[in-house]
Amino acid sequence: MENVLPPANPEANLRDYSKACQSFDWKEVEQEFSWHLTGKVNIAYEAIDRHAEDPTRCHRYCLIYEDENRRERITYHQMRDLSNKFANVLKKLGVEKGDRVFIFLPRCPEYYIAMAGCAKVGAILSPLFEDLMEMAVRERLRDSGAKVLVTTPKMAARVPFTELPDLRNIILVGSGNIVLRPGEVSWEEEIARASYDFEIEWMDLEDPLYIIYTSGSTGKPKGVLHVHRDMVGYLITARWVLDLRDDDRLWTTSEPGWITGTVYGVFAPWLCGVDNFVRGGRFGLEGWCRSIESHRITVWYSSPTVFMRMMEQEKEIAEQCDLSSLRHILSVGGPLPPEVVFWARRFFKTPIHDTWWMTETGMIMIANYPGMPIKPGSIGKPFPGIEAAIVDDHGKEVPPLTLGDLAIKKGWPAMMRGIWRDEKRYQEYFSHEPWYISGDLAYMDDDGYFYFQGREDYQIKVDGAMISTTEVEEALRGYPAVADAGVVGQPDPIRGTVIMAFIALKPGFSPSGELQEEIREFMRRYFSRRLVPKEIEFRPEIPRGEDGAVVRRVLKAWALGLPD
Ligand code: WTA
Repeated sequence: MENVLPPANPEANLRDYSKACQSFDWKEVEQEFSWHLTGKVNIAYEAIDRHAEDPTRCHRYCLIYEDENRRERITYHQMRDLSNKFANVLKKLGVEKGDRVFIFLPRCPEYYIAMAGCAKVGAILSPLFEDLMEMAVRERLRDSGAKVLVTTPKMAARVPFTELPDLRNIILVGSGNIVLRPGEVSWEEEIARASYDFEIEWMDLEDPLYIIYTSGSTGKPKGVLHVHRDMVGYLITARWVLDLRDDDRLWTTSEPGWITGTVYGVFAPWLCGVDNFVRGGRFGLEGWCRSIESHRITVWYSSPTVFMRMMEQEKEIAEQCDLSSLRHILSVGGPLPPEVVFWARRFFKTPIHDTWWMTETGMIMIANYPGMPIKPGSIGKPFPGIEAAIVDDHGKEVPPLTLGDLAIKKGWPAMMRGIWRDEKRYQEYFSHEPWYISGDLAYMDDDGYFYFQGREDYQIKVDGAMISTTEVEEALRGYPAVADAGVVGQPDPIRGTVIMAFIALKPGFSPSGELQEEIREFMRRYFSRRLVPKEIEFRPEIPRGEDGAVVRRVLKAWALGLPD
């Protein structure tokens, strides 16, 4: 199998990666924004109103929305008016600059209008993932001290309004007869009454824009805080990584409750003024392919799970749909197996470009660019202006092909500015200045390409589900012959990640193929099929640190055959 693919598009926006790295300066990107001249800052102005005032752009679609029951198109011009109306609704409810406004909705046009309106009043918006249940909703609203929440009557059942003293109002989205309880207002009625005119609240570049809660590896969720200055990073990554050009139509499949949906499904395409497509509802292969076909999507940003499902059902789709409009395809969120990249190259006539980043980094940090050769299996190279490295436990850089922590030198524009009301957890990311420590394990090859190898903490994603390695370890230790066990995720060409267990046996037992099988059988019978390790290897001892925790980095190195 070839292991380097030529650049997918030598005509890409970013043609010469090395040259761009040498001359890159964030100050130059800043000149693209109107605030550079006017001093008036608000991402909503740059993302919407600026295009609405531009006759060549005002009729482009800031939102092309469809789901099973609803189809809507909103131009930049219309979005200016609608977001002004919503900003007026917020003002009427007493929302001030810096107040927290939560959006807890399924994907729908109101979601996007609400996001833009929040930014216009200078509120800190927080998009919530639609599947969150009551406990999670309460925790987040409480932690942030949310003042207003936008939701649907159905989802409002998961919002414990009376237990949230800071929450003043709920705005209910939906038509028909909605029964309003005290504190609740109807989106439809309020929007109908509100004025189209609104004076945007001008902000400081460092003023907060949104909070996204991530579950964190342990303990309560962390409210990752981002600011208006993030826009500098969004614009240039959208141009150079998503390769967005004037006539593009982007579909980022992630919903705004996740960072990818917020940044590359809303703000980044809006800053570029391109057509932005959103499909609501759940994943369904046929419907999704039909959307690409009928809307002539040109740039598609999705996830390995989606691509893997497509690959498995390649034949049927190929016969059904014309996906030839796709010029550039990207992936994020989990390991993208090389097989999928090769398959895509045959199937779409363009490989998939993997990108790596996190809620905390705010923008794409490491990527495969359409103008650069791809090494399938690699997450690519750092974005120009970004310094990435692999460091050891003391924050010291390690040589190529050595496993360590993926770290980024502090100070890019979209870096999180804090963990809401939790300075201690924020500082934990910066225990080895000047590095931001990601908690992802990776290595770099001799050509400067990075390879993701899993999380350093105890969680792994297997077949899309989070599995706790400690849960598997405890289960394994329940087997009579097992003295100790250590579990890690191992990259797998087809399944992405599989469970790999290292086992130290009690005296009197010796390693054998039968024993491996017996252990698997034990796991299947007493625990769950989900937790059965695909690979089992015997070792004299499992490495444990002073605190007694399994040293996962060493297990990872064993699993990969790298130096430990
Ligand atoms: C994982 C998503 C493998 C990683 C933007 C990271 C990836 C976590 C990749 C962040 C990739 C992200 N290959 N794993 N290309 N990109 N991840 O905060 O473990 O939802 O730490 O942000 O996703 O997830 P988050």
